[in-house]
Amino acid sequence: MTTIKLHAGKGINKISKYLYGHFAEHLGRCIYDGIYVGEDSPIPNTKGFRNDILAALKKVNIPVLRWPGGCFADEYHWKDGVGPKETRKRMVNTHWGGVVENNHFGTHEFFELCELLDCEPYICGNVGSGTVQEMSEWVEYMTFEGESPMADWRRENGREEPWKLKYFGVGNENWGCGGNMRPEYYADLYRRYQTYVRNYGENHIYRIAGGANVDDYNWTEVLMREAGRFMDGLSLHSYTIPGSWEEKRYALGFDEAEWFETMQKTLHMDELITKHSAVMDKYDPDKRVGMIIDEWGTWFLSEPGTNPGFLYQQNTLRDALVAGVTLNIFQKHSSRVQMANLAQVVNVLQALILTEGDKMILTPTYHVFEMYKEHQDNELLEVTIESPDYTFGELTIPQISVSASRDTNGKVYVSLCNLSHKDSASLSIGIEEVSFSKVTGQILTHSVLGAHNTFEAPDTVTPVAFEGASLLGEKLSCELPPASVVVLTLE
Ligand code: AHR
Repeated sequence: MTTIKLHAGKGINKISKYLYGHFAEHLGRCIYDGIYVGEDSPIPNTKGFRNDILAALKKVNIPVLRWPGGCFADEYHWKDGVGPKETRKRMVNTHWGGVVENNHFGTHEFFELCELLDCEPYICGNVGSGTVQEMSEWVEYMTFEGESPMADWRRENGREEPWKLKYFGVGNENWGCGGNMRPEYYADLYRRYQTYVRNYGENHIYRIAGGANVDDYNWTEVLMREAGRFMDGLSLHSYTIPGSWEEKRYALGFDEAEWFETMQKTLHMDELITKHSAVMDKYDPDKRVGMIIDEWGTWFLSEPGTNPGFLYQQNTLRDALVAGVTLNIFQKHSSRVQMANLAQVVNVLQALILTEGDKMILTPTYHVFEMYKEHQDNELLEVTIESPDYTFGELTIPQISVSASRDTNGKVYVSLCNLSHKDSASLSIGIEEVSFSKVTGQILTHSVLGAHNTFEAPDTVTPVAFEGASLLGEKLSCELPPASVVVLTLE
C-alpha cells in the first residue's frame, strides 16, 4: 500500500509554466519536413507551418520554444537566415547528418511560429564560432525600435515593429560542441558576450548562461562564482540513456531489465537538480538565478533505416513514464527550476509529434504533456509519500512518483506514475486542510510495455477516463495499473 498525505491548503511556490517548454533545432526533420513544410507544400499550412502540428502544440499550451539549437546554435550565423529566401546562403549542417541547410527558416520564421503558437521565443546565440558583434547585432535586429543599421534592415526585410524577446541563451554546451571550453574560460566569455546583449526600450532580456553536462558540478560552481551576478538563468543538460552514451539502445524491442534501468536513470534527475541547486544556493541563496534544464528526455539509437544524424526515434509507453516522472521532479524543485525544454518537439529524440509525409501522430509523451498541462502556473502543494519499492534483481527504486498543484479556482491536480512494469499499486491518499466532493481523472497505460503509436494505428497509447479513484470524505483511494500515468482532478 502506498500512503500519501496531500496538504491541499499548503501552497509552496508557483510552478512556472515554462517547465513545460520545448526545443526545436535545425536537426533532422524537426524543422524542415517537420514543423515547417513551406507555403507551397500540399500539406495544409499557415505561412509554411503545418496546421495539424500548430493545432496539436496549441492544445498542450506550449509555453516556450527554444531555437535554433543545440549544437547547431554555435555554428549558426543569423544573418544568413534573413532577407529574400532565394538569396539566403546555403551551408552544411556539420553536426547533424551533413545535409545542406538552405536557411529558409530563420529569425522571421521563428518569430512567426511563436506568434502562431502564442508561446515565448527562447533564442540561443552563437559563442562557439560567432563574434560578440554578431550576437549583439542579432539582439539589435530583433528588439531595437528606433533607427539603427540592424533595425532598419529588419524593416527592409518586412518587419516594422521589433519583436518582444525575453529568453536569450549565451551559447550552448560550451564544454562540448559549443567550443570545448574550460568553465573558467567560458565564464569569462559569458561575461563579455552578455554585456552586449542589450535591453532596448521596454524589452528586458533574461540571460541564460550555458550550463553543465549532467553531473559536472564544478562547471556550475565556476559559473556561479565567476559570472553568477551577470546571469538570470544557468542551464543544465541531462538525457535518459539506457545502456551508455557509447552503446545506446533502441526505442523499441526493450526487455523488462531495460525498462527498470530507464526508470532508475530517469530518477537520477532528482539527485542532479538537488546537487546543482546546492551549488547555486551557495552563491545565490535567494534563488534569483533560475536553473534552466533546456535539454532533457530519452536518447535512443535512431530508428533502423533512418539517417543516424537525424536522431529519429519511436516513442513508447516507456517514454510516457520518463516524461511523467521527470515533470514531477521538475515540479518538486520548482523554487529553483524556472524552465525546462524537452528535446525535441517534432521527429527528433523524445518527440511530442512524429510525421511521415502528410501524416502526423501524437506520441505517448505528447499525451503526458496534455494530461499535465493543468499544472502550468499553479501553486505547488506539499505532498508526503511512503511508497513500496520497485525491485528488480538486487536493485530497488520507489514505485510511485507523485506531484500536486492547486489552480486559482481551488481545483487540485495530482499527477501519479506507477513505475513498476508488473505490479499495480493501491494508493491511500489522505487529504488535509481542504475538502473536495468530486474526483475525476485520466490514465495513460497499456498492457504492452513497448506499446506505441504508429501511422497505421495512431491511437494505440492514448489517455482515457480513469475510473480507479474514489473519494470518501478526506480519503482518496485509487488503484494504479502497472506502467501507468494518471492525473486526478479534485474539486
Ligand atoms: O538535442 C540534441 C543535441 O544534444 C543538442 O544539439 C546538443 O545541445 C545536445 O548534445
